[in-house]
Amino acid sequence: MCGGRRARMVGAMSTITDLKAPPPPGPGLWTKAFAVVYDPFLWVGERAGMRRHRRELLRHARGITVELGSGTGLNLRHYPDDLDELTLTEPDAAMGARLRRRLRRSGRPARVLAAPAERLPFDDDSVDTVVSTLVLCTVEAPDVALREIARVLRPDGQLLFIEHVRSDSPRLAAWQDRLAGPWRRFAEGCRCNRATVELIEAGDLAVDELRAASWRGMPRIVRPLVAGRARPRR
Ligand SMILES: C[S@@+](CC[C@H](N)C(=O)[O-])C[C@H]1O[C@@H](n2cnc3c(N)ncnc32)[C@H](O)[C@@H]1O
Repeated sequence: MCGGRRARMVGAMSTITDLKAPPPPGPGLWTKAFAVVYDPFLWVGERAGMRRHRRELLRHARGITVELGSGTGLNLRHYPDDLDELTLTEPDAAMGARLRRRLRRSGRPARVLAAPAERLPFDDDSVDTVVSTLVLCTVEAPDVALREIARVLRPDGQLLFIEHVRSDSPRLAAWQDRLAGPWRRFAEGCRCNRATVELIEAGDLAVDELRAASWRGMPRIVRPLVAGRARPRR
């Protein structure tokens, strides 16, 4: 990775924690446990195709790259070596600890920031690639996050995404609605019935590549998957 360019950050690094929401009461037991069970829970799905989807998507990453909600760092191994810069953002402390560990082991040059997608600590027009895999389903305010993505992307920048989405099948969508509450509690805020592509298109980004797939090896309510690319409307 050549270090010629850097994403211009808003303020100093020490303000990153200030950008997080008002002091939380501290992560609950399940929040911590979820970070522990995350990789084992996804294990079958990764081998049944998700790993391939990640690889296929991330080979298009270029330039100054920012990943949202990196979780435990399952994307890390798939990034090209010639990025100008890689920043992994992850607001959850338990996930962040695992992410930092995986990053250290990988030996890759990248930094980790505890920033939420709704408040990205980067200047306008300063990022070439934003990556979101299985994150827009979970962020509390996806419309705000999508505005932030469009704001930080350069005019020729790109959002690369893989998201599980609301099903086109009325029958499966009805099950997604029915199970949305329990799933959200289990999966730490994930909305299995969110129509993410429609949300992307409703804002300042235009989807120019979209591929439908299935998240094989996972519960049916999160199987409808999309992968693609969106660009700022400017
Ligand atoms: C289902 S996990 C996906 C993790 C990883 N991107 C992957 O592909 O395996 C959702 C991630 O989004 C993070 N997250 C939750 N709220 C967020 C927010 N507001 N902004 C950014 N990330 C958030 C969670 O902490 C978690 O790591």
